Amino acid sequence: TQAHSILVLPGDGIGPEVMAEAIKVLKAFENPECKFVLREELIGGCSIDATGKPVTDEVKQAALTSDAVLFAAVGGPKWDKARRGLDGPEGGLLQLRKAMDIYANLRPCSSHSPSSSITKEFSPFHATGLDGVDFVVVRENCGGAYFGKKVEDADYAMDEWGYSTAEVQRVTRVAAQVALRHTPTWPVISLDKANVLASSRLWRRVVEETMTTEYPQLKLVHQLADSASLILATNPRDLNGVILADNTFGDMISDQAGSIVGTLGVLPSASLNGLPGDKTLQTRPYGLYEPTHGSAPTIAGKNVANPVAMILCVALMFRYSLNMENEAQQIEDAVRRVLDKGLRTPDLGGNLGTKELGDAIVAELRL
Ligand code: NAD
Ligand code: IPM
Ligand code: MN
Repeated sequence: TQAHSILVLPGDGIGPEVMAEAIKVLKAFENPECKFVLREELIGGCSIDATGKPVTDEVKQAALTSDAVLFAAVGGPKWDKARRGLDGPEGGLLQLRKAMDIYANLRPCSSHSPSSSITKEFSPFHATGLDGVDFVVVRENCGGAYFGKKVEDADYAMDEWGYSTAEVQRVTRVAAQVALRHTPTWPVISLDKANVLASSRLWRRVVEETMTTEYPQLKLVHQLADSASLILATNPRDLNGVILADNTFGDMISDQAGSIVGTLGVLPSASLNGLPGDKTLQTRPYGLYEPTHGSAPTIAGKNVANPVAMILCVALMFRYSLNMENEAQQIEDAVRRVLDKGLRTPDLGGNLGTKELGDAIVAELRL
């Protein structure tokens, strides 16, 4: 019997509701050969309320010793006034990303992914068609403006936005490997503001050097981040490939991807310290699986949140941390079939509840 240890962090807002559905799906895969040992802990606002900290050292330690971490969402109006950087609810997630050094955040978005069926009606691209949109944002997850020096005085505030060569190199390698594993014709499209920002000029130079020396077979495109937003909003297929971006630009472009498929409620993500099989890895592989969406406080507690993003996080966890590719595809196929049948939550015009959609997906699994 294989026992996989999973740290479960439901967090705040809709977090616990979507996590409950993801766990239902996870448990459906248990059998005499495969068990999941779940440990549930607090993170974010609920952790501040209980312990004074958005994440405790004990929880960080648990993350470092588990086979994988499932994370739902943190934050909410209750903590907004008191919040301060790493000490606020969102700081719990940031501290965890840093502690695990999960520097590459993969955020896939494609029209043949399980979100395909919905895009036809719900995407703003209804008229032009969304078929063939297919990209993965690879977002740098442990540096840049998020983790630089900060000044927060009454009349002046500053976030240092810096990158080292090593930080850019390692995330570029993950982006290149994602492209190679998908199809060698996929370009790496690197976003920056090299026309304005010094950190972007280093970013562009290091991406260029790394790609031409280590991955000469791949096409590399440098795209200014602001016009990338325009392209995504007008001709999204032109960005097909791996979109490599720093922490801030990657955050923004991946939320915009939610508008492409019609809702953030279906976009999962994987935060990793390298792809499986990465020979340069100095530590054990770490994976934290988090939807792209947040805690959606206005719809929390109503059984209306879309659990698909969180459920697809289980699929990504199977793929990248647990070496269960077949099972990952079983989840993705079940989600696709359920959405194709028109079974949907209100964000996609349906009338199913969070729990009911979770049940429908479990029922659709072909185990
Ligand atoms: P959000 O992602 O929570 O919500 C944006 C919009 O998408 C809202 O209209 C919301 O109702 C909708 N939405 C999000 N997830 C959904 C789902 N699963 N089903 C249906 N609709 C969904 O972003 P926000 O409103 O900017 O932020 C709310 C709080 O969440 C803030 O405190 C923010 O800091 C936090 N946040 C946390 C994370 C995270 O924990 N990873 C990510 C983003 C935002
Ligand atoms: C995300 C979120 C987080 C981020 C916040 C909650 C720290 O927006 O995962 O996209 O900005 O990275
Ligand atoms: Mn975000």
